[in-house]
Amino acid sequence: MITALRENIDWVGYVDWTVRDFHGYNTNRGSTYNAYLVRDEKTALIDTVKAPYTGDLLERVQALTSLDKVDYIVCNHAEPDHAGGLTQVVKACPNAVVVCNQKCRKTLSQYQDTSAWKIQIVRDGGEISLGRRTLVFMDTPMVHWPESMFTYIPEEKLLFSMDAFGQHLATSGRFDDDEEVSLEVVMNEAKTYYANIVMLYGKQVLRVLERAAGLAFETIAPSHGVIWRKHIGDIIAAYKDWAVCKPKAKVLVIYDTMWQSTAAMARAIVDGASVPGVDVRLYSVRAGNITVLASEAIDAAVLAFGSPTLNMTMMPEMASALTYLKGLRPAGKSGFAFGSYGWAKNGPAEVESVMKEMQIEILREMITAQYAPTAEALKECFEAGRALAAKALEMVKRTA
Ligand code: FEO
Repeated sequence: MITALRENIDWVGYVDWTVRDFHGYNTNRGSTYNAYLVRDEKTALIDTVKAPYTGDLLERVQALTSLDKVDYIVCNHAEPDHAGGLTQVVKACPNAVVVCNQKCRKTLSQYQDTSAWKIQIVRDGGEISLGRRTLVFMDTPMVHWPESMFTYIPEEKLLFSMDAFGQHLATSGRFDDDEEVSLEVVMNEAKTYYANIVMLYGKQVLRVLERAAGLAFETIAPSHGVIWRKHIGDIIAAYKDWAVCKPKAKVLVIYDTMWQSTAAMARAIVDGASVPGVDVRLYSVRAGNITVLASEAIDAAVLAFGSPTLNMTMMPEMASALTYLKGLRPAGKSGFAFGSYGWAKNGPAEVESVMKEMQIEILREMITAQYAPTAEALKECFEAGRALAAKALEMVKRTA
């Protein structure tokens, strides 16, 4: 359903209720591809949608204006979930000029045949007047791709923030204060989105936040999920914390197991870490999914990873989880490795090696147990868990 953000500024995107896999991201609450139509003396469409849903987008635009009245199609980001529909939209809107920055133009031309498009290149800080309103463009490199940019309408205190502040969340309400969805769910999905899409680019996020602090907002309209108008302060404060992976007093124990030996070690670590004021979470890489794991890891002060040895290496699901987390690079973490083995300690040793590559501070030598952990080995795990909890509390105090 078309939703008004302001008089003659409307949401015309697509709610994808059923998507569950977004290039590997487990979107268990679906997603939206938000596009917006600004009608003034000139008319601008802000972004498009994933290619298969372009017909829905065009229907919504046509319900508001005729397609030959669209003067501009702003492309804030060339990734196909937003720009995939451009070829079809450009064809359908014969008078429209695609507005993007130079990097975006190049990326678009690598995905689509842009040779017949009318394209207007805009620079950082550039403006286009629509009449009563102005579009102001701000480059936001690496939030999420090199060509990403924001579009701001100062007269409306309205920011189109592209992927930033987004959530993979399908809802019937379009705003953060609609009754259909609780703030807790929105913030949780915003955190999961940040952790899986932008965590690697924390420094760039901080730069963008600094620049955006100079703008006055009453509405932030991202490209995914609900539009922020009531809880803008909450989401900006959360982004400042997430950008530096600010630790909470949280211990995350992540493991895989063959015959329950490493699982028993993991539970002993959890028991040891379970002290007042510390949130301890046990995560099985085979029972869970990496999307949730990334979200859990971003604010955990300390992490313990455990794998037994299988075929002279770590378990494959643990290798997968570590590879994913290594790419996202959660910053400032501490922890240790553990695991059982039969005749070679390669499993836990390789886990520790990847933790070092991730620049996780290694707090102690890895804990290993041959075949099954003895009472003594479980006691060692318990004590290591207790030390992890103490470290988590200390880190929170240091970064408060
Ligand atoms: Fe939602 Fe980076 O695209």
